[in-house]
Formats: sequence, C-alpha cells, structure tokens
Amino acid sequence: MKAYPVYIDNHLLSSSEIFQKHIHGHQVFIVTQKNIAELYLGVLQKTLQDYHCDVIFIPEGEKNKNIFEWQKIIEQLILKHHERSTTLIALGGGVIGDMTGFAAACYQRGVNYIQVPTTLMAQVDSSIGGKTGINHPLAKNMLGAFHQPQCVVMDMATLTTLPEREFVSGIAEIIKYGLIWDADFFSWLENNIQLILEKNSAALKYAIERSAAIKMHIVAEDERDHGLRQLLNFGHTFGHALESATNYQTFLHGEAVAFGMKMAAELSHRHQGLSVDDVSRIENLLKRAGLLQNPVEIPDLMSYMKRDKKTQKGETQFILLKKIGSAIRHQNLSS
Ligand code: NAD
Ligand code: GLY
Repeated sequence: MKAYPVYIDNHLLSSSEIFQKHIHGHQVFIVTQKNIAELYLGVLQKTLQDYHCDVIFIPEGEKNKNIFEWQKIIEQLILKHHERSTTLIALGGGVIGDMTGFAAACYQRGVNYIQVPTTLMAQVDSSIGGKTGINHPLAKNMLGAFHQPQCVVMDMATLTTLPEREFVSGIAEIIKYGLIWDADFFSWLENNIQLILEKNSAALKYAIERSAAIKMHIVAEDERDHGLRQLLNFGHTFGHALESATNYQTFLHGEAVAFGMKMAAELSHRHQGLSVDDVSRIENLLKRAGLLQNPVEIPDLMSYMKRDKKTQKGETQFILLKKIGSAIRHQNLSS
C-alpha cells in the first residue's frame, strides 16, 4: 500500500505549504456541504488560491451518500473540464469523505484526492485507510473501492463547531482502538476522558494521533480487509444491525457502535474469557464518555446481523476480546 502522511494540528486549513506538497496539477475540486462551507470554505479557498478551484455542495445526511449525488460530482468534473491531474478535496465528515474518495477512484479511472476531515469520526476513522463508497438503497456501503488519498489534513480547530453529540459519537471509535489494540491507550483514556470531552488540545491531539497511528498500522498490514483489518469492526456487527433495525434514524454511528462494543464485551466474557473486571471497565468508560444513553430493545437483531458484509459462508462473524488490548475474530458463537 502506498504510504501517505496524516497531518494533525490546529489551523491546518490555512497551511498552503501542506496542500502544495500534495497537489500536482493546476486544478482542484472541493466537495463539501453548505453548512461546512459557511464555516471553512473561505479559508480553504484562500489557501488554494494558486489553483483553478471548483466547488460542489452535497446536501447533508447519510441518505445523500447515494449514486445520484455521486453522479453529480462526476458530471461537474466533466463539465468543468477537470483533467487526470486534478485533485479532489473532501472537506467534511465521513459522508463527504467516502463519496469524494469514490468519485476520485472512478473519475478517468482514478485521480488524486485529499481528505480534510471535519468530524471526530472522520478524523479518527473514515479519512484513513482508503475505504471509499456510497450506499445502495438495499444496503449501506455496498458500492465502493479501495483508493488511498494523497494525504489527510486534520484541522482539529474544525471540531470546535461540531455538535456535541457528533463529537461524542467519534469518541466511541477512539475507545475501540484501545480495546482492540492498545491496553495502555485504554488506561490513558480512562484517566483523560474528561479532558477529551472538554476538548483540551493536548489530550485531544494525543487521542487522535494514537487512533490514527493504530488505524494506519492495521491498514498497512491488510489494506484489502482480508484478516487483521476486520478487527476494526469490533462492536460494528451489533452496531450496524442496530442502525439498520432503527432505519438509521435513532443512533449516530458511534452511538450504535458503543452499544455494539458493550454487547461484544459481554459475549467476549462468555466465549473468550474476558474478565468481569474488564467488562465493567469497558462499560464504565463508554458511559463516562456520554455513550450508552437511551438503549432500545431490538427483538430480532440476529436477522439484521446476517446481512452484514462480514458474514462468511452464512456465519455471522464477531470480533471479540481476549482481554483489553487484544482482539480476535470469532466465527461460531456456539463454540
Ligand atoms: P457526517 O459526515 O454525516 O457528519 C455529521 C454531521 O456533522 C453532518 O451534518 C455534517 O454536515 C456536520 N459537520 C461536519 N463537520 C462539521 C464541523 N466541523 N462543524 C459543524 N458541523 C459539521 O458523519 P460522520 O460521522 O463524519 O461520518 C459518517 C459516515 O462515515 C458514514 O457514512 C459511515 O459509513 C462513514 N464511515 C466510513 C468509514 C471508512 O472507513 N470509510 C469509517 C467509518 C465511517
Ligand atoms: N472502518 C473500518 C475500516 O476502515 O476498515
């Protein structure tokens, strides 16, 4: 897999040096949403003033991560005469990042793009690793490609305008990295969760850096998701089923994943010997982060789990923990 830098700091949107290093042609094409543009498009356009710059606005929301909005991006690229040397720039959360990446993967058989994630979810997860895609009306993320960006520019200052609920949703993925990979990081999170919630710059920077480093390491080992990368789905088999069973109306992604991680921790106790103490540490940290609020009962979660992309030979696959910091794939819950 091609290696690429991930820049993490405050006020990087105005760093022309970073962008110039990774834009190779004379054209750029920014994909964003109107609410994000009101806050950040001006400064980014100023940074990119030496390039021919076009912009497209995608309406907000997961429901717009679809083929119609994706096609509009392609249409504008053609109508505005963007050449193979163009660079697409995804300014927004995971919805914008996934769609822009997929447009970049397909336009003229693949052009460059840069991820500029503005949500915590996108900074610690979706902007890294090159999974791009859109939803099909029958299932989420069913169309896509692996296409790595030229670089990822994480401007932490953009998180100051993020609604609190979206911020907390991103913390679920940060906790996930500690659980699947790094027990010391999990302990650090236990000691520093309050500082992260207060958006203390040093604590937040460390949490984002450590999360990004863990994800980068895993993706570099298994870009195409054949084995190790599947550990990143801890909590996601239940989480996706919850999101799907509630029609994507009730939970933000991280909120559903938090419930999924609680359920996976309980299963890990039963099937992998995860200690009772670890199960309660996991639940406590999730609650202290503001997650696991307002649970809903979904009677037939199992039928939703069968549609999961991770299902193999009809068996739902689970990621379980042997202990905090050590995850494994587990196929058969009867064992
Ligand atoms: P999102 O992109 O919908 O953003 C959430 C909301 O925050 C939107 O309303 C957006 O307009 C707003 N917003 C974004 N940045 C803002 C800012 N700085 N200030 C104020 N408002 C802002 O949601 P998300 O949680 O970022 O991403 C979810 C998407 O990411 C899903 O489609 C999911 O499938 C995808 N995802 C992909 C991967 C991957 O590896 N590719 C991983 C995880 C999630
Ligand atoms: N978000 C899971 C992955 O990138 O594999």
